[in-house]
Amino acid sequence: MNPKLRVGICGWGNVATGLFEQLTKPSNEQAFELVCIGARRDNPNCDPGDVTIHRDIFEVIEQDIDVLIELIGGTDTARDLISNALNAGKHVVTANKAVMYEHGNELINLAIKNNVHLMFEAAVCAGTPIIKMLSNDLGANQVTKISGMLNGTTNYILSKMEQGIAYEVALEEAKEKGYAEPDPCLDINGTDAAHKIGILASLALNSDLPAGNFHIEGIEKITAEDFNYADEFNLTIKHLAVTKQAGDEIELRSHPVLIDKNSSLGGLSGVRNGIQIDTDLLGEFLIAGSGAGRESTASGLISDLIALSKHASSTPMHYPHFKDMSKIKSFESLDFSYYVYLEVQDQAGVLALVSQIFSDNEISIDKIVQKDHLPDGKVPVVVFTDLIKESQMQKALENFSAQSEIHSAKIIRIET
Ligand code: HSE
Repeated sequence: MNPKLRVGICGWGNVATGLFEQLTKPSNEQAFELVCIGARRDNPNCDPGDVTIHRDIFEVIEQDIDVLIELIGGTDTARDLISNALNAGKHVVTANKAVMYEHGNELINLAIKNNVHLMFEAAVCAGTPIIKMLSNDLGANQVTKISGMLNGTTNYILSKMEQGIAYEVALEEAKEKGYAEPDPCLDINGTDAAHKIGILASLALNSDLPAGNFHIEGIEKITAEDFNYADEFNLTIKHLAVTKQAGDEIELRSHPVLIDKNSSLGGLSGVRNGIQIDTDLLGEFLIAGSGAGRESTASGLISDLIALSKHASSTPMHYPHFKDMSKIKSFESLDFSYYVYLEVQDQAGVLALVSQIFSDNEISIDKIVQKDHLPDGKVPVVVFTDLIKESQMQKALENFSAQSEIHSAKIIRIET
């Protein structure tokens, strides 16, 4: 019988205790031995039985383990912990997208130097398989574009809002279900999805980690009305992160989009993540599955342990060949069609003023609809534009904000 893989877990929160529950099931106990846990404090929701707990998480590295599983989150201490473990000749498995995004180049190079493996399947889409698929299974392909709904919390909230449930209620539910980050702002403001698309870009396009500055926007400004107006045109609202090879530059962005309700990604609701991948050999294909939560994350973590296990026959992971300075394509130069929501004064000539601003910026209007008065007397105007440059839209937004008759202006980009 093959020896068991000896494992130490660092961190003892929702994800770690979810993993503990799975590792202590008989089927997993045959393959893995949980040697110890590194946790600064107990977790009242989980009894670790007779597994040794080290209060100094760095002591886990010194134990007789093959793999350290980093589940402490954050970047600084996690980076030190992973670096020390790799330097001590231990494999590392992590679900931490922030540390992989910020320090991925350095940590992967450290793993290679020490002839050990750094595995991070659960860092993107939790258990929905994407990391080893990109690095190993798609090795024969050139990936040209990845479009991903990469944050389960955000998709859960947007799906609930579409059903008429308030944003705050949906966010509380996502927290209770264990989908949200300890700081849910990272989910809501697009940062979590940005980290994930940066990691996918590194694997698919060999771009650097961390990526340079790119456009990151959250779902904070989306309202129930936006869903109603979108619905009139058979569209829905999702949060999308995209990367694409664009000549010798890389397109990277993370923001809400309007998307066809019946499209592959538009139809995915709840905590599900969806990733559409375009490649030269396979063409376009879609992966979808649960993207957050303790069970899904445990699934991703254990898939890495299986890949590392002493009886695995294939190489666990092929790493990117980071380019020296992968250049991010300027967001202002990208082309989109836009949904524009304006709240304007109810007076003669305001629609003409709106049209003039679009015209001054050479923005062609596809549709324009004036809606019923709001309770405060303002009038909503919804505009759909033809394809234009982001820079043109930014200029128009500047012009709108300079007009006293136009009280507010908001855009959502349309993803085709
Ligand atoms: N907070 C993350 C999400 C967890 O909602 O997607 C999984 O990375």
